[in-house]
Amino acid sequence: MAYETLLLDRQDGVTTVTLNRPNKRNAMNPKLHEEMTAALEELRYDHATRVVVITGAGTSFCAGMDLKEYFTELKSKPDEFDRAGRLAVEWRGRTLRYYPKPTIAMINGYCFGGAFSIVEGCDLAIAAEEATFGLSEVNFKLFPGGSVSKSLANLMRPRDALWYGMLGRPFDGKKAADIGFINLAVPLANLLEETMNIARELANKDPHALRATKDGFRHSLEMSWDAAISYSFAKEAELVLQQNDAWRTEGIGDFLKGKYKPGLESHDQVQKPATDPAPVSSEQG
Ligand code: COA
Repeated sequence: MAYETLLLDRQDGVTTVTLNRPNKRNAMNPKLHEEMTAALEELRYDHATRVVVITGAGTSFCAGMDLKEYFTELKSKPDEFDRAGRLAVEWRGRTLRYYPKPTIAMINGYCFGGAFSIVEGCDLAIAAEEATFGLSEVNFKLFPGGSVSKSLANLMRPRDALWYGMLGRPFDGKKAADIGFINLAVPLANLLEETMNIARELANKDPHALRATKDGFRHSLEMSWDAAISYSFAKEAELVLQQNDAWRTEGIGDFLKGKYKPGLESHDQVQKPATDPAPVSSEQG
């Protein structure tokens, strides 16, 4: 499928989705929200996609919500404003959070306002040290609205969320890593290579185990202890069915035969996964 605001590139099981409005610093207009919704739906069932990387074209990762096409031009069109806002919240929030495949935000430059929710929605985030982050909303007399306040509450320490949210000061990729908003900051020149190394490492792991890892963490955040334990045992039983018991027979089995040490290396390094990677079914989102 061809998109107007996105580029999709598939290589070695990793699909890169590039926000492609470089002249507008990849600000998210209503069209981009529609297309991201469609693209994530397409990649969900795409057997060539085991990992999704989201990045931006040109000097910017994403300059946040489109201040003209969304906030200004839809002011007198409440239905269109509501629809764009709903899609915007949904793909960065529930869709990414419960996405059946690993997701990585690769922050190559400017990352403002609403773009924080893309970073938070992705499982992992790697930025250029030179990238510029900012909760700029207060600078134009707004606040981190839509899904952004919830993203801050989910991922940032309270002191950092209020510091950057109230002061609106920009910070760089190194700082973003220091405060735990992202996993890693690397020089811009190495960003693509470092991110692809991580993405390929994930693409070679068992997709069902990765999905269970994500679901176990994400859902446990909102469950009681008893419900989380019950969910976890149910997930374990589900994994046995999905993989035909491969984690026990192959994963543990090959360790017990002395073939590898799972504490130090992955089973895929000694043997390609025997399970079909394709059918990672959708549960929600
Ligand atoms: N919404 C709509 N348009 C945006 C935009 C946004 N969030 N961010 C940038 N643009 C547009 C500019 O209006 C300009 O369009 P034009 O060429 O038609 O005039 C174009 O992108 C380039 O922007 P410019 O400011 O000239 O580029 P820059 O590289 O000097 O600065 C930014 C880039 C991102 C620092 C600056 O554009 C900016 O501060 N944008 C607002 C970011 C923001 O507050 N986002 C939060 C939204 S929730």
